[in-house]
Amino acid sequence: MSSPYQILARKRRGLALGTDDLAAIVAGASDGSWSEAELAAFLMAAAIRGLDQEETHRLTLAMMQSGDCWDLASELPGVVDKHSTGGVGDKVSLVLAPLMASAGIPIVMLTGRGLGHTAGTADKLEVIPGLDLELSRARCLETVQRTGMAIGVATVDIAPADRRLYALRDRTATVDSLPLIVASILSKKLATGAEAVAFDVKTGDGAFMPEPDRAVELARRLVETCASLDCRASALVTDMSQPLGDWAGHSMEVFEALQCLEGEGPREVMKVVFELATDLAELAGSSVGRQDFEDLVVDGRARETFDLWAATQGANEKWLAAPNLEPAPHEVTCEASRSGYLSNVATRELGLLLAEASRPEGVKGALDEQVALRYEARLGHPVEAGQVLAKLYLRQPDERYEKRFRGCFRIADDGVVPPLIRERIAAP
Ligand code: URA
Repeated sequence: MSSPYQILARKRRGLALGTDDLAAIVAGASDGSWSEAELAAFLMAAAIRGLDQEETHRLTLAMMQSGDCWDLASELPGVVDKHSTGGVGDKVSLVLAPLMASAGIPIVMLTGRGLGHTAGTADKLEVIPGLDLELSRARCLETVQRTGMAIGVATVDIAPADRRLYALRDRTATVDSLPLIVASILSKKLATGAEAVAFDVKTGDGAFMPEPDRAVELARRLVETCASLDCRASALVTDMSQPLGDWAGHSMEVFEALQCLEGEGPREVMKVVFELATDLAELAGSSVGRQDFEDLVVDGRARETFDLWAATQGANEKWLAAPNLEPAPHEVTCEASRSGYLSNVATRELGLLLAEASRPEGVKGALDEQVALRYEARLGHPVEAGQVLAKLYLRQPDERYEKRFRGCFRIADDGVVPPLIRERIAAP
């Protein structure tokens, strides 16, 4: 077996690493036998020299096998999953999961906490009183068998190697290396053993991967690596140059997700939901189509499935029957300074602002779930002087946030409507 020095020297020269090399690195990250210096050197060499498709496959597999693998498909044939790279106002998972389950397609999502300027699905769902997102494999299976779906937070035993590598990437300027991102996402995503995954890779100012061509490349690599690991996958590259839908912020995203399930959702959110739903159905070999999904929303079965699932994971049933979700009390409006077209929205800045205002005591402090943004305009559309573009809801007046908020919208003499779905990457 090669020493860390020999492995690092090979990658530094741009040579491909073999299965044993990548397994040694991942074992070194998990059991502490590789020092921070050695792991950091690997990350930097991989970020500069790249990892080819075969190496990305091997790294992903080794990272996934560093922890628990649930192999759910052995007991839940046809189980699917969905992954979004995250954005501002992205509540698609909250709508998609009950929709798939109501169509008889089992779905399991292990989801994350907020990261940077994006809020996590788990943090949003915890707005629901009583809902418990701690899932063991057994509890997950039981929940899906009863309701068709389960959503939980990834346990510490899933892909532990990623935790150490991810933290080091953050300190070594290697976060945006595509193969390292692919291995990080898929080592956790595929650990449940889903048979098919649909990816929603966001692009635009509010996305983790703002440049469209890099977002498309990430989507391609995710789909290819899944295929190499026997998981059927496809991806959409969708717009995040403006917030998705009318609301962003924990409580109000749950509010909007429930509206979507009741047939009252904003057009853009429903379009992304239905596109991902039909892609997942196809990947799962199901004949359920777009019209069927629309019917499941209209006839209330998608919403009923959400309630059944949430109650099964502990949610308060009285609350589910009459959810009271409201934004924080101090409303700040941003009005158009002149007539023209909404030409730019600083979406990432809006996300950061929401993240900061909703954790007034810092990232480890308590979450103010009601801090919210209502987005009332749309990029590329005409606006009149004085028209309300957006509203920010804070716990109390705060001039710094109000000033930053008002600086997030630009009006010009023309504007472009960005395509909601920029690219579709089909299963190979
Ligand atoms: N999400 C992850 O889990 N890992 C990355 O590297 C990027 C986003």
